[in-house]
Amino acid sequence: MTNIVNILYLVACFLIILSIRTLAVPRSARFGNILGMVGMLMAFVGAFISVNLPNFWVVISIIVVGGVVGVYAGLKVKIASLPQMIAVFNGFGGLAAVCIALSEVIDFSKNYFDNMIGLVIGGLAFSGSMVAFVKLQGFISGKSVHFPLQQALNLLLLMIVLVLGSSYIVTQDIGVFLVLGVLVLFLGVLLVLPVGGADMPVIISILNACSGWATVGIGMSLDIMLLVIVGSIVGAGGSILAYIMMKSMKRSFFNILTGNFINSNLLKDENVKMAQTGSPEEAAFIMENATKIIIVPGYGMAVAQAQYAVKAMTDLLQNKYGVEVKFAIHPVAGRMPGHMNVLLAEANVDYSEVFEMNDINNEFSSTDVVYVIGANDITNPEAKNNPQSPLYGMPVLDVEKAKTIFFVKRSLGVGYSGVENPLFYAPNTIMLYGDAKDVTEKIVKSLELN
Ligand code: TAP
Repeated sequence: MTNIVNILYLVACFLIILSIRTLAVPRSARFGNILGMVGMLMAFVGAFISVNLPNFWVVISIIVVGGVVGVYAGLKVKIASLPQMIAVFNGFGGLAAVCIALSEVIDFSKNYFDNMIGLVIGGLAFSGSMVAFVKLQGFISGKSVHFPLQQALNLLLLMIVLVLGSSYIVTQDIGVFLVLGVLVLFLGVLLVLPVGGADMPVIISILNACSGWATVGIGMSLDIMLLVIVGSIVGAGGSILAYIMMKSMKRSFFNILTGNFINSNLLKDENVKMAQTGSPEEAAFIMENATKIIIVPGYGMAVAQAQYAVKAMTDLLQNKYGVEVKFAIHPVAGRMPGHMNVLLAEANVDYSEVFEMNDINNEFSSTDVVYVIGANDITNPEAKNNPQSPLYGMPVLDVEKAKTIFFVKRSLGVGYSGVENPLFYAPNTIMLYGDAKDVTEKIVKSLELN
């Protein structure tokens, strides 16, 4: 029996690793999902046959209820609500680690260090994720929550947790373990409270990594290699994703945990400047006469749900007017990782036309028209040119190098960073004011008529 279980675990690990590899490419992502599901099923069967279940039917009922809730949530969740669903699932992963660590300690397990890691990191992941869920779901303000001496309290609690964690390993006192558990839950809540706004996806990634590392601790405690391997993948994946987001947004771990935001008034330019404006009809005329167009989608496209209109516009430009159309995706366009890719995939935009920033940035200088739809910060040249700018150092799309730039947005207003974009006033920029979907639909109409 042990051999069968080990083989099942080995194949499960292989499938899960392969699944992540396949998920990285949009074309194979659906297949990657299936590989991951089969891998999980094998891990599940392995775990099921490896233990003697005293309460067989109770366990089966719990599995059925959990499975039904999971399938229902997966089918019903809207794309915009994915972050909070991930938060809940991270939280449950952390809670599972806490429960296993507790049961191991009650069972006189001698893996003190591993159980302590499972409890501390799992507890942080659980309570932090619950706060993240409550904020994202709008039950409490999604903004940073601050109170006096907050950072001092967090630091003090963190130090107490470290001291108690170490003293548990030395004393092996179950009372210390329980107090540690309560404090960790409290610390998780306090750490996530000051995080707000668009920093939420980063904290969710960090909590995701925590639930992975907690699983590693539990895997070592139970001596189950599968948990160690899969936990490491989740831990490393979440950490890398959080790092990429922080780097692309020029935010530090400390800034995120303290809810320390960019001073949006820093760069307010008091000089009155004029931006050129155009109509959708004029834009359609310029676009149908172009040879090459790059579309840059951003958060506003998601808000307006303009992806279908963008797809219709792309089809007309390519098929009726023979224009070469490509899409440029900035790593933090929108409000969550892969936000734009998901929307474009939803509208059936061909993957071969969608390019990551580094693969397309040198093409803007040979482009006739850039159609920036609901994007702002990710195009701001101040990030390259102005060391005083809060955005300075963030990699951005070189859209200013194109012959003509259309900005589709409702005003000259700022984006998430709160920083003005001087590109709106550039001589080669034309503002197309209005809702992203409305404006694009009007362009589609003109392209159909012309
Ligand atoms: P933003 O810089 O936030 O700009 C979005 C623009 O969309 C706004 O300036 C807004 O201008 C416009 N807009 C909103 N609703 C619209 C509508 N219905 N129709 C047309 N335009 C609309 O977005 P971005 O360029 O995608 O950059 C993303 C920002 O979010 C970055 O600063 C990034 O650091 C941050 N962020 C991203 C992530 C991830 S993982 N993607 C996570 C956290 C934070 P108007 O109000 O004038 O219309």
